[in-house]
Amino acid sequence: MNIFGRVDSWPAQQALTFNFQLSTFNFFGGLMISLAGKAALITGGSRGIGAAAVKLFAQAGADVVFNYVKAKDAALQIQQEAGKHGTRVEAFKADVGKHVDNQRLVEHTIARLGRLDILVANAGVWNPEDLPIEKMTEKQWDDMIRINLKSVYSIIHFAVPHMIKQKSGKIIPISSTAGQRGESLHTHYGASKGGIISLTKGLATELARHNILVNSVAPGWVATDMSNAVLESKLGQKMASTVIPLGRAATAEEIAGPILFVASDLANFMTGEVINVNGGSVLCG
Ligand SMILES: NC(=O)c1ccc[n+]([C@@H]2O[C@H](COP(=O)([O-])OP(=O)(O)OC[C@H]3O[C@@H](n4cnc5c(N)ncnc54)[C@H](OP(=O)(O)O)[C@@H]3O)[C@@H](O)[C@H]2O)c1
Repeated sequence: MNIFGRVDSWPAQQALTFNFQLSTFNFFGGLMISLAGKAALITGGSRGIGAAAVKLFAQAGADVVFNYVKAKDAALQIQQEAGKHGTRVEAFKADVGKHVDNQRLVEHTIARLGRLDILVANAGVWNPEDLPIEKMTEKQWDDMIRINLKSVYSIIHFAVPHMIKQKSGKIIPISSTAGQRGESLHTHYGASKGGIISLTKGLATELARHNILVNSVAPGWVATDMSNAVLESKLGQKMASTVIPLGRAATAEEIAGPILFVASDLANFMTGEVINVNGGSVLCG
C-alpha cells in the first residue's frame, strides 16, 4: 500500500482507492497523507523538484497551478502526467524574477482554483561554473538575488492577502544547505538561499496570527538538471559518495516527499523551521 492508501498490488477490479481525510486512520491502522480539497501553487514546476512536487501533490488530491518560464513542453508533459490523478493541474508561463508576473501567477491561481492553501516557492537557478567573488559582475549578483530571493518575497507578497482572508495557509520556500553553510565560488547563490531562510523565520512569526505557517525545505545535492552536470562528472561522483553520508545525491521525489509532509495537516503546529533533506550531511546544513 502506498502513502495515499492505494493498494497497488490488488487486481484492478478489487483495488480500492480511499479518499482519506487528514489525521484519520484507515482500517489498516495507518495514517495517510492527503491534500484533498486543497489548492496549491508551486513555482518552477516544469522540471526537477518542482515537477516531482506537482505530481505528488496531485496524487495526494490537491488542485495545482504551477509555472514554467522556458520549458513549455516539459510543463505540458507534467500537467498531463499529474492530471491523471483526477484533480485540476495547470501550467502557466511566468518569470518569477518579474514582480508583475508573480502578481499574474497568483491571480491566475485564484481565478482557476478559487483559493490558495499552499504556496511552494521553489523556482530557482544555480551557476554550475565556479565564480570567484572578484570576477562576479554586478549583473550576475543582481540576477541571482532577483531570481532566487526577490522572487520569493514577490510571490509571497501577492499570495498572503488571500491566505489572510482565508485565515489559513502554508508557505514553503525552498532554500538549500548552501543557505546555511555558505557556498564558496557560488556565494551569491548561498546568499540568496540564506536570505530565504531569514525570510522564512521572520514571516513565520509575522503571519502566525493569521494561521499562516511558513517552513523552508532545504535540500542538499539533488540529481536534477540544475546539478546533473556536476553530479555526473567524475569529481562530482566522488564528492557525492564521500561527502554525503548516504553516499549519493537525492532524487527530486525524495525532496518532494518532505515538502508534501510540511504542506499537509500533519505539520499544523510547525512554523519557522528549516527542514534539511540532505542525506545526513548534518555538518553542511
Ligand atoms: N538540485 C539541487 O542540487 C538543489 C539543491 C539545493 C536546493 N535546490 C533548490 O531547489 C529548487 C529547485 O531546483 P531544481 O534542482 O529542481 O532545479 P531545475 O531542475 O533546474 O528546475 C528549475 C525550475 O525553476 C524554474 N525557473 C527557473 N528560473 C525561473 C524563472 N526566472 N521564472 C520562473 N521559473 C523559473 C524552471 O523553469 P523552466 O523549466 O521553464 O526553465 C524549472 O521549472 C531551486 O530553488 C534550487 O535552488 C536544488
